Amino acid sequence: DSNSMWGGRFADGPSSIMREINASIPFDKKLWQQDIRASLAHVAMLAECQIIEAEDATRIIRGLNQIAEEFGAGEIAEDLDLEDIHMHVEARLTEIIGPVAGRLHTARSRNDQVATDFRLWVRDAMDQVDAGLLALQNALLDRAEEHAESILPGFTHLQSAQPVTLGHHLMAYFEMFARDRSRFADARQRLNESPLGAAALAGTGFPIDREKTAAMLDFDRPTANSLDSVSDRDFALDYLMAATQCSLHLSRLAEELVIWASQPFGFVDLPDSYSTGSSIMPQKRNPDAAELVRGHSGRIAGAMQALVMTMKGLPLAYSKDMQDDKPPVFEAHDLLGLSIAAMTGMVQEVAFRTDRMRALAESGFATATDFADWLVREAGLPFREAHHVTGAVVAMAEEAGCGLADLELSRFQSVDERVTEAVYDVLSVDASVASRSSYGGTAPVQVRAQIVAARQKLAGE
Ligand code: ARG
Repeated sequence: DSNSMWGGRFADGPSSIMREINASIPFDKKLWQQDIRASLAHVAMLAECQIIEAEDATRIIRGLNQIAEEFGAGEIAEDLDLEDIHMHVEARLTEIIGPVAGRLHTARSRNDQVATDFRLWVRDAMDQVDAGLLALQNALLDRAEEHAESILPGFTHLQSAQPVTLGHHLMAYFEMFARDRSRFADARQRLNESPLGAAALAGTGFPIDREKTAAMLDFDRPTANSLDSVSDRDFALDYLMAATQCSLHLSRLAEELVIWASQPFGFVDLPDSYSTGSSIMPQKRNPDAAELVRGHSGRIAGAMQALVMTMKGLPLAYSKDMQDDKPPVFEAHDLLGLSIAAMTGMVQEVAFRTDRMRALAESGFATATDFADWLVREAGLPFREAHHVTGAVVAMAEEAGCGLADLELSRFQSVDERVTEAVYDVLSVDASVASRSSYGGTAPVQVRAQIVAARQKLAGE
C-alpha cells in the first residue's frame, strides 16, 4: 500500500529496502521532546493568527501533551513506514484526536520542522557541555589551589626543561576549557534563530507570525531567508567543531595522566574508581578511563568530519543527505559528555605524588637556565656565553652523576672564575619557580593570583 502521509500520488508502497534506507526513526526519536515543543508553539501561533479554529488548536494541544506523557513514560513504538519522529508524532496524534490532527501541519513542512527540532536539541546539548566544563574548571581550580607550590619538572619535547608548579600546570588546562566554553557560547548565539515558518523552502502563503513562534521557543529572532533556513546545518557543524577542539584538550590532559601514572614517572596514583586491573597481571592498575578519553577524541573528530563531508557540495535547499546530520552529533555529544565527566572525576580524585615530582625536577638539570641567567645578571656575561659556560657545567655534573647544586664551588670556577658562592641561591627548584613571577608565570605568587582572577571570572558569569 502507498504511504498514508505522502502517498496520495503513489500506487505502490516502498520496497523493504527503501523503507529501511529512508527511515530515521531509529535515531531521530531522540528529538521527540523538541518536536512536540515546536509543534505546541506552531499550533498556538496558527490559532492566534486565525489560520485554524481555536477549538481545533485546543484538541491538538491536548493530544500533543498526551503524546509527551506517553513518550516520556516508555518506548516509542517504532514503525519504519512512519519514517521519522515527526510522522510518528503526527500519526499518534491522529490516533488520539482523529483527522483534525491533520491541521497541525498547516503552513509547515518537515524541512523547517526538523531544522527547528534539531536546533533546539543542539542548543540543549551546548548548555549541557557548558555545565560539564564549568564543573571541570572548578575541579581544576581546587586542585591548583591545593598545589600552588608543589614543584614538578616542566617539559618541552617531553625533556626536562624548567621546574614549574603543579598549580600552574593545572591552570593551563583551565584556560583551554575557558576557550572551549567561549566557543560553545559563541556558537549558541549564532544558532539561536528560529527556522520555523520557512516551510518547505520558499516560505508560506498563510499569514503566520514567525516572531511569535521564535519567542515561544526562546529563539532571539526568526531566520531571515527561508532557503537558508532549511538547508543550513552550520549550527550542528559549529557544535561538532567546538566539541572536537574541546576533546583535543581533554585528550592532552588524558595523555598526561597516562604518562604520569606510568611507573617510570610515578607522578600520580589514579583513584581505584577510575582504574582497572588486568585479568592476568595482578600488579596492574591501568588508566583505562584516561585512555578512553584520549581515544574518544578521535571518534569526536571523526563525527565532525562525517558531517563536513555530508554537507559538502549540497545544492539548496533540502536534500535527504541531510538526514544523516543527526547520528554524528548524537554520537559526539554522548562521547564528549562522558569524557568531560570522567575527566572531572579523575581531576578531583587523583593523588599527586609531589615527592616524586620534586625528585625528578631536581634530577634533570632543570635549573640550568637559572644558572645561565645568574651569569648574565651577576657576572655580566652575554647570554650566549653564559649558555656555553652552563653547558660545560651541566656536562661536568652529568659526568659526576650529581645535580648542579651538588657541585663544589671550585668545580664551577674551573669553568668560569667569575662564579661565586651566591650562585647556590638560584640552583634550587624552589628558587627557580619563585623567581618566575612575571605575569602568567609559574611562581606560586602568580599562580595564586591567576586562581583568584579565575574564581572571580566564574563568579561573575
Ligand atoms: N527525517 C528527515 C530529516 O531528518 C526530516 C525531513 C524530511 N524532509 C523531506 N523533505 N523528506 O531530515
